Amino acid sequence: MASSSNSISRIFAGFLMVVLWSGKLYVNGCYPSIISFGDSIADVGNKKQLASIYPDVEFTCDPPYGHNFIGRSTGRCSNGRLIIDFLSESLGLPLIPPYLSDYLRRGVVVGVNYAVGGATALDSSFIEAKWGERSVVNASLGVQLSWFKKSLPSICGNTSDCRNFIGRSLILMGEIGGNDYNHPLSAGIPLDEIKPYVPLVIDTIISAVNELIEMGAQTLVVPGNFPVGCFPSSLTMYGSDSEEYDPITGCLTKLNEFIEYHNNMLQTKLQHTRELNPNVNIIYGDYYNAVMQIYLSPSEHGFTKDTNLKACCGCGGPYNFNATAQCGDAGTTVCDEPDTYVSWDGIHLTEGAYKFIAKSLFQGSYTTPKFNSLCPTITSLAGGRLSSSI
Ligand SMILES: *[C@@H]1O[C@H](CO)[C@@H](O)[C@H](O)[C@H]1NC(C)=O
Ligand SMILES: *[C@@H]1O[C@H](CO)[C@@H](O)[C@H](O)[C@H]1NC(C)=O
Ligand SMILES: *[C@@H]1O[C@H](CO)[C@@H](O)[C@H](O)[C@H]1NC(C)=O
Repeated sequence: MASSSNSISRIFAGFLMVVLWSGKLYVNGCYPSIISFGDSIADVGNKKQLASIYPDVEFTCDPPYGHNFIGRSTGRCSNGRLIIDFLSESLGLPLIPPYLSDYLRRGVVVGVNYAVGGATALDSSFIEAKWGERSVVNASLGVQLSWFKKSLPSICGNTSDCRNFIGRSLILMGEIGGNDYNHPLSAGIPLDEIKPYVPLVIDTIISAVNELIEMGAQTLVVPGNFPVGCFPSSLTMYGSDSEEYDPITGCLTKLNEFIEYHNNMLQTKLQHTRELNPNVNIIYGDYYNAVMQIYLSPSEHGFTKDTNLKACCGCGGPYNFNATAQCGDAGTTVCDEPDTYVSWDGIHLTEGAYKFIAKSLFQGSYTTPKFNSLCPTITSLAGGRLSSSI
């Protein structure tokens, strides 16, 4: 009796383990892992780690960043979770660990995130030489790809197994490129002089996409950039004449048109890449129009009309943003209800906005082709407001 019930429980335990393991691996039936590249929009801890190793790497996303995140100071530049976190959640995967961490710790690799805050698409040395900028973080898209290749043997073994792993993974390529423009913009270079560099940025992103396809990638989400002309930092630093503002949204028209120029060129090049690779799912992520929904009608989406252009964390001024005293610096405070704001610190968005964007993309119509038609997500991301429990 004892031995038979023992073996039954052993069989049952074995069965349970298979369920748990397969559940862990294929819970959404589409992608067992996510590989991510990009900048602070997707960085879940790499820059924080880099700054702890290299004293010349500046890191600013310490508390009150992570205000609404369990575990708090993770290196995420928001009050809580990012788009990548909601993507993994909606696919039934755990949070994807940063590359500069013990990412193999779980045993089952659910993906690795190579994104670094401040990263550019073009090499940091190019940006520094071109715009006279100092200390651009040396973690451009090319560097992130080299990290990826270096880490592959530890993640998936030999070349054919890795080709398989890459093919089954969902690859999130960005957002990347925003910082390539932020550097010259903040150095006072006019948009007309930055515009000739857009094709270079786009070509760098497309090259990375092509390289991943050659390595076996089957599904890539490539996001465009946000309407940064609506961000408190831009509104504070670049706006002056009232004619520069869109009468409906209050955003800076020319800066948003510049971003649309980037986004349109990216989409054109992605379409070309699709035609050359008809068996690969190349998905454009429309971050721009997803967040524009909020600026067009904030209260309809759970945000507040009179604060949707203001930063939640700051120290005053018309947009609650001050370049010399930014979120976390002395004198700055955090607003009462972060997730009724779009902007967390004037540059990065709140968890509420990121959740809204993730929902619009992965469960709505803001990707081309529609993400849900390729992979129906399993967890519904409800509404613009949320609880920060995970
Ligand atoms: C940047 O990082 C890459 C890869 O780690 C390295 O090869 C290169 O020398 C670095 N560049 C500088 C300027 O430190
Ligand atoms: C790669 O490793 C797998 C085991 O994970 C093995 O079955 C396969 O034969 C190897 N392939 C090559 C080309 O070495
Ligand atoms: C920005 O912050 C600095 C430092 O706290 C302060 O001296 C300055 O007056 C502020 N500027 C504005 C426009 O509020």
